Amino acid sequence: MTKTLHVTDLTVRYGGVTALNGVTLTVAPGELVGLIGPNGAGKTTLIDAVSGFTKATGTVRLGEYDLSRRRAYARARAGLGRSWQAADLYDDLTVQENLTVGAYRPNWRQTLTETVRGRARHDEQIAELLGIQDLLHQPSDGLAAGQRKLVDLGRALAGRPDVLLLDEPAAGLNTAESSLLATRLRSVVDAGTGVLLVDHDMALVLGVCDRIVVLDFGSVLAEGTPQQIQTNQDVIAAYLGRAASPEADRPGSPAGDRP
Ligand SMILES: Nc1ncnc2c1ncn2[C@@H]1O[C@H](COP(=O)(O)OP(=O)(O)O)[C@@H](O)[C@H]1O
Ligand SMILES: [Mg+2]
Repeated sequence: MTKTLHVTDLTVRYGGVTALNGVTLTVAPGELVGLIGPNGAGKTTLIDAVSGFTKATGTVRLGEYDLSRRRAYARARAGLGRSWQAADLYDDLTVQENLTVGAYRPNWRQTLTETVRGRARHDEQIAELLGIQDLLHQPSDGLAAGQRKLVDLGRALAGRPDVLLLDEPAAGLNTAESSLLATRLRSVVDAGTGVLLVDHDMALVLGVCDRIVVLDFGSVLAEGTPQQIQTNQDVIAAYLGRAASPEADRPGSPAGDRP
């Protein structure tokens, strides 16, 4: 049974900087929601706050469960998965071993499912969904950049999240790799997982998402379908007009991106 993520009035302050200012959004099962915005807009902060790695005010709810006061591991166990900006694989492990590492989520539901269905079967299902079946027994250190990102995504899926928060999974990929990642991501979402996708790659986000939330200076600037976002004047002014150099810091930005 998958659950909707409800984020309500989420606010994060780092000293004098309000990195996130009263953000409200939802991600339903089987829904792919894009989160975009200029560098320093608060995208990573939102993922950190929702997954419990940064202190925040406001509420985070997954289905019936209020996770606002729970620690990061408890949120993960409840069904909130995440990936890391600039994460990397365990190079001395095989692809399948990397997936198994991601699966560590010791609750009764997973233990029971794995006893009945088998861990290996679940890894195979993920690999099929991502089109990486042929890589399962290969060492991870020989993989191409695009394949590494798919395995990283598989590692996050191995924990059986209801909702997955992805921080710039296409960073460092070329156009072809990024478009393959988008296709696989769509399969993941269509299989029922809700995904919040943070990315700089506008083509990726506009092409694959059901709905997009635009952050600017920590607040929601706009929300809508890719079509609505592309024609929104506020968005064009704040972000799309700068799409030729999305990595560039905007004038007056409080600070640059973190590594
Ligand atoms: N740990 C931190 N301590 C202090 N300020 C931070 C920290 N993390 C992020 N910030 C600041 O919060 C704002 C939002 O950053 P971030 O969430 O990384 O933006 P984005 O991911 O959209 O590029 C920026 O001004 C950034 O400098
Ligand atoms: Mg970021």
